Amino acid sequence: MCGIFAYLNYLTPKSRLEVLDLLVTGLKRLEYRGYDSTGVAIDSPDSKNIVMVKRMGKVKVLEDAIQEHFTGGEYSEPVATHIGIAHTRWATHGEPCERNSHPQRSDEGNGFVVVHNGIITNYNDVKTFLRKRGYEFESETDTEVFAKLVHHLWKTHPTYSFRELVEQAILQLEGAFAVAVKSKHFPGECVAARRSSPLLVGIKTKTRLATDHIPILYGKVLPRSDSTSEFMPLEEKEVEYFFASDASAVIEHTNRVIYLEDDDVAAVRDGTLSIHRLKKSLDDPHAREITTLKMEIQQIMKGNYDYFMQKEIFEQPDSVVNTMRGRVRFDGNAIVLGGIKDYIPEIKRCRRLMLIGCGTSYHSAVATRQLLEELTELPVMVELASDFLDRNTPIFRDDVCFFISQSGETADTLMALRYCKQRGALIMGITNTVGSSICRESHCGVHINAGPEIGVASTKAYTSQFISLVMFALVMSEDRLSLQQRRLEILQALSNLADQIRKVLKLDSKVQELAKDLYQHKSLLIMGRGYNFATCLEGALKVKELTYMHSEGIMAGELKHGPLALVDDSMPVLMIVLRDPVYVKCMNALQQVTSRKGCPIIICEEGDEETKAFSSRSLEIPRTVDCLQGILTVIPMQLLSYHIAVLRGCDVDCPRNLAKSVTVE
Ligand code: AGP
Repeated sequence: MCGIFAYLNYLTPKSRLEVLDLLVTGLKRLEYRGYDSTGVAIDSPDSKNIVMVKRMGKVKVLEDAIQEHFTGGEYSEPVATHIGIAHTRWATHGEPCERNSHPQRSDEGNGFVVVHNGIITNYNDVKTFLRKRGYEFESETDTEVFAKLVHHLWKTHPTYSFRELVEQAILQLEGAFAVAVKSKHFPGECVAARRSSPLLVGIKTKTRLATDHIPILYGKVLPRSDSTSEFMPLEEKEVEYFFASDASAVIEHTNRVIYLEDDDVAAVRDGTLSIHRLKKSLDDPHAREITTLKMEIQQIMKGNYDYFMQKEIFEQPDSVVNTMRGRVRFDGNAIVLGGIKDYIPEIKRCRRLMLIGCGTSYHSAVATRQLLEELTELPVMVELASDFLDRNTPIFRDDVCFFISQSGETADTLMALRYCKQRGALIMGITNTVGSSICRESHCGVHINAGPEIGVASTKAYTSQFISLVMFALVMSEDRLSLQQRRLEILQALSNLADQIRKVLKLDSKVQELAKDLYQHKSLLIMGRGYNFATCLEGALKVKELTYMHSEGIMAGELKHGPLALVDDSMPVLMIVLRDPVYVKCMNALQQVTSRKGCPIIICEEGDEETKAFSSRSLEIPRTVDCLQGILTVIPMQLLSYHIAVLRGCDVDCPRNLAKSVTVE
């Protein structure tokens, strides 16, 4: 996944250096989306050409290059109207290098330059078409074909507007993309479009906007050139537009945004924003709403933490409360999930629940499956989205399918959603990002309200997904008399959770000491079962993605069927042994490990001297109801992976080769 950012100022004078600073800051807010190379494009001092700077590496490298490159006084002169575009890349086609960085251009004269997020799946065919017409390619990217295709259309259709050129180009393309395009042939204009990759437009004016929606235009209708157009009535001409892959890059400038939908084409011309669609479908709304962002900038900043991930780990006492806020009524022991309440009768008639996600989101499904089976008394399947699609899994109209996704843009999960929706299943989104594709394409859902999660490694989103699914299970069992005692036990435990998380977080320095024993090893085995097996999977993923060490989550019951062969006095092992229904079986596994000279670190309940006696290194956590143990046992795993990563000199917030949301399949 990549980050797109573009800034257009209209009759609001800004120097090119100020524009560059805005572009770089925007990229910094999007860096978690991909960070192997970056680039910017702005107008040349004579405003007749386009100047680009591109660099391999993170945004800081680009920032330094910009300071070297744009030194002349002419870059300090204010310009009334200007469009700059910028990009931070997560390589899909072509290795990370300057040549493959964005913006990609149409020709040596930089006639058209484009930044792109997604994958153009038919780019080879388009490349062949263009080569036959004399185009030569300088990169291995799929994006470059887009820039050259627009250029080809411009040469062959000289009467077309900029917006029409881009529209005609995207009609030829297949795959997922979000693009922002700038051209020296259309100065002061910007065109942006999306298909299956997120893109929004921020609008900043001095006074309030005269409208809270923008009509959608179909076909060749073009906005009039004056700014009093009925398409985007502005009370004054001065306006600034921000095009971005997500809201975190826009919120510090404006909270007025439009989320573009698939196949929308947004064009700014003479300061007027218009939104176009090529074909009108029955359920198309007549306009796009201008929404008001609720997030605040400080939520996105690191505060006094070294990394976003560290901040997000320590936010969990608050984030779990925010997830429950306004939903769990501890006094009346009632739960209200507004986003699904109208669908509860239909859900209760379903024949099974399917929980589908990737990575950490999948683990939240594993963590809550047993409780969902217990409280809904329905079959519950948990599926990795990619494998679910590979198998063409049978789906029926009386299935309820949950799509769990922090970003709400993960391609595998989104494709699985569309697969199930086509087959008539009820679609429920469990997401953390308002306006995301999964959020908008679900019939109903629960927003986990964890707040923006910037660190690529998911932490607070996991515990909030976990809680959201627990709340769903409690809602589903509201009228089951036989389950009331169990529900009350869980509700009581939920009310203590934030304090208990705070208590576990106090183990941070002890975990840091354990990390010093582990960080030079090559592997870490994490064992548990029952309600804590998910913690083993999630802990192993954290260790892998943050420290680049091998790690494996092992079902303790499987130990003797093979993995025990890995155990000796040098293999690092961590075992979760809590006083729950599988305690005795976990103790058996613990003894299997210690009898092979294994020296496991043990996560056990505070005061459990019998269990602690099996190891010289233990982490004691507060006792809670069995089905919520996984919230408390995952915290030491988050801390441990964080500290090992720091000791190994890894980039905690931007681990190598990864991105925050994988918007390509
Ligand atoms: C988790 O730490 C990883 N960043 C990754 O596994 C992530 O959970 C997965 O890509 C799913 O992302 P989503 O929740 O945004 O769909």
